[in-house]
Amino acid sequence: MKQFDVIIIGAGAAGLMCAIEAGKRGRSVLVIDHSKSVGEKIRISGGGRCNFTNINTTPENFLSENPRFCISALKRYTQFDFINLIKKHNIYFHEKTLGQLFCDESAQQIIDMLLEECRAVKVQLTLNTAISDISKSGDKFEFKSENENFRCSSLVIASGGLSIPKIGATPFGYEVAKQFDIKVVPPRAGLVPFTFSEEKLLRYKDLAGIALDVEVSCNGKSFREAMLFTHRGLSGPAILQISSYWKNNDDIIINLLPDMNAFEYLEEGRLEAPRIELYNALSNIFPKRFAQFICEENYFNGRLCDFSNSQFQIVADTLHGWRIKPDGTEGYRTAEVTLGGVSTDELSSKTFEAKKVPGLFFIGEVMDVTGHLGGYNFQWAWSSGYACGQFA
Ligand code: FDA
Repeated sequence: MKQFDVIIIGAGAAGLMCAIEAGKRGRSVLVIDHSKSVGEKIRISGGGRCNFTNINTTPENFLSENPRFCISALKRYTQFDFINLIKKHNIYFHEKTLGQLFCDESAQQIIDMLLEECRAVKVQLTLNTAISDISKSGDKFEFKSENENFRCSSLVIASGGLSIPKIGATPFGYEVAKQFDIKVVPPRAGLVPFTFSEEKLLRYKDLAGIALDVEVSCNGKSFREAMLFTHRGLSGPAILQISSYWKNNDDIIINLLPDMNAFEYLEEGRLEAPRIELYNALSNIFPKRFAQFICEENYFNGRLCDFSNSQFQIVADTLHGWRIKPDGTEGYRTAEVTLGGVSTDELSSKTFEAKKVPGLFFIGEVMDVTGHLGGYNFQWAWSSGYACGQFA
């Protein structure tokens, strides 16, 4: 029987951060992962450079059934605390856009830093190990792997969500929650591209590869970033962001000209070059293929001088509020995160301990707190891991 004060399941961002903090308190800590290597998501994140935090992190950047749950942990371990940690390890970084911080060299530097911090406080790691048969007897948890039995006082579930099963994502955390009668908010894919039906794909097929700077809205939330037409549907940062707010059958509304007044643009065009075709006028502000598509799709044709003001208004309204109904998402295969998860109602926002099950903790993506795109999900892993590590 291997005995530890704290056993953490999941050697990802949250699990390793928690291990470091618990180790600093002199707790004996073991981290177990079923994968062959630690921090796989860190390694592949940010195109290999890891967007490890966002300097503008606030609680408003997170989705949860209880949007206030994240406030305490984000306050106790901020983006600036993590920046100080990586500065201490001489990892150079840069801001790419919108406060997103990336390593100059490689995401592997973040993994190496976490492992070095773990070593410094004697955290032990067991990889390639699946566990089963968790039980609680008295105030201890017990479980086993293929070859060994384990016992601990604090069991921390940091096994992440369902995104990218190919690199080790499993429903393990939700199953543990269920076993202990802890509520789970139904998980669904977030930060994920939209897909179109065959019929829509046929209509949009010539648009694949076109990127537009847009503002996308759905269910009262808007994002101003790039949108990309793909061979399957829509992607790009604006789409990934809004996907977290989208539910089946919702329309998304796309402002194709967020910085312009389309009506005024058309009116001015009519004064300056009345005989120019609408399609040509739109080709000056959109890629040609897209200008052609939007005119054909909406039966907008003719010269600018042929349009009345009310017809211009219809064109302008279309350009500022193009409605599309996605038919689905690419799902967990490509989703960057999993929305939902272990309900925050069940957890202490101070310690991350389950209210019903003393000694059992949930941190990181496995719980119902999900960040926007842009480094916020790692910040949640660091903040929740840190907070839990002070108590586990
Ligand atoms: P995480 O998923 O990192 O770790 C969970 C660990 O548990 C894994 O090591 C897994 O192997 C292990 N595990 C799972 N089931 C188990 C089981 N049954 N037994 C034992 N171990 C088990 N975020 C961000 O802020 N900036 C970014 O740049 C990116 N980029 C990005 C790219 C891609 C492609 C993806 C898929 C995701 C991102 N993200 C991101 C999101 C970010 O990676 C994610 O939110 C965090 O890694 C979550 O950290 P956790 O530690 O909670 O889970």
